Amino acid sequence: MTINASQHLSRLDSSVLDSLHGRSMLLTQDWTAAEIDTLCTLAEVLQALDGEGRVPALFPQQLFWALFFDQSTRTKSSWAGAAARLGGQPVIVDGSSTQVSHGETSVETGAMLGMNSHALGVRHDLILGEGNAFMRDAKKGIDDYLAATGDDRVVPVVNLQCDIDHPTQTLADLLWLREKFPGGLAGKTVTMSWAYSPSYAKPLSVAQGIITLFTRFGMNVRLAHPKGYQLMQPCLDAAKANAAASGGSFTVTHDMDAAFEGADVVYPKSWGPYDLMLERVEANRKKDAETMKSIEKRALERNAMNTSWICDERRMGMTREGKALYMHCLPADIGAEVSPGVMEQFRHDLAREANKKVYAIMALLSAAKGRGLKAALAGAAK
Ligand code: CP
Repeated sequence: MTINASQHLSRLDSSVLDSLHGRSMLLTQDWTAAEIDTLCTLAEVLQALDGEGRVPALFPQQLFWALFFDQSTRTKSSWAGAAARLGGQPVIVDGSSTQVSHGETSVETGAMLGMNSHALGVRHDLILGEGNAFMRDAKKGIDDYLAATGDDRVVPVVNLQCDIDHPTQTLADLLWLREKFPGGLAGKTVTMSWAYSPSYAKPLSVAQGIITLFTRFGMNVRLAHPKGYQLMQPCLDAAKANAAASGGSFTVTHDMDAAFEGADVVYPKSWGPYDLMLERVEANRKKDAETMKSIEKRALERNAMNTSWICDERRMGMTREGKALYMHCLPADIGAEVSPGVMEQFRHDLAREANKKVYAIMALLSAAKGRGLKAALAGAAK
């Protein structure tokens, strides 16, 4: 049954929505469960309005910068799509083409970009300890500039993937689960599993983002990975605490079969070996390209010792009634992370999951920047 924009609007909590004014999204863990729930409802309103061709141009003549220090297809497109739908102008810049590579500090970069723009998105995900810190410093640069000049613009920072979290992805994933399970998410068993990839040593942040976000909503989250592929300890601690607070659970296993047994949802994707991700920090600090290359080679050799970690028909058959929902942030390594058959079976579901990101970003931008937002959306929904 399709729910229209007015029906979604009736669930939107105005007081929580108003409290989101001026908020940046740097980690989902910085937001309360009620704030995330309201943000998701707002995204659902915006998706319904978009489907009805009624999204109001809330931010005409506003500039939405995004800075990418890593490659992207979906998130760039979602940022641009969100800005355009809200009446703003997106600009997407390759981070390596900025003066950051010549030593400009992150605080200075934030100030320089923020003085001219109305929101800043950043992807900085490859080096542990760097990406989220860059975003926080850039936000400080923006906030200090706005305060010093008495400029009352709201310029939120949106994390478009860092070393710790990938909030716009995991919020999109949460929105997709809310659509697939309209009866509620509490009690659902979700497996976040490592899977084999030969392509590159991927960031840890999607897996970390999933275990920290999904445990907020009463789900039973299972993390599975081979030994040596652990995630950052603060994220594991947060997942455990979240699960205890929400009535869900959080467990870790090194057995992919056991993790799939009876699961309602599986999310198998690769990330790099933890010790080598740490080695990369020092090599990057020294700008040692040869060592960076050798770490990458060793990471792929390590991955190749775990080629049996694939989401295939046999493992999908072990899930609840053999009918678990397969999720992936994309791009997936077909034939390595996932069998061609499973990928094909879920191709359209994966596209719908990916398409939620534009609404997650629209919600983040409009909640942070809009005033009297519920009334404006109600006017559009009539
Ligand atoms: N999943 C995701 O973030 O995709 P991109 O890397 O293409 O943005």
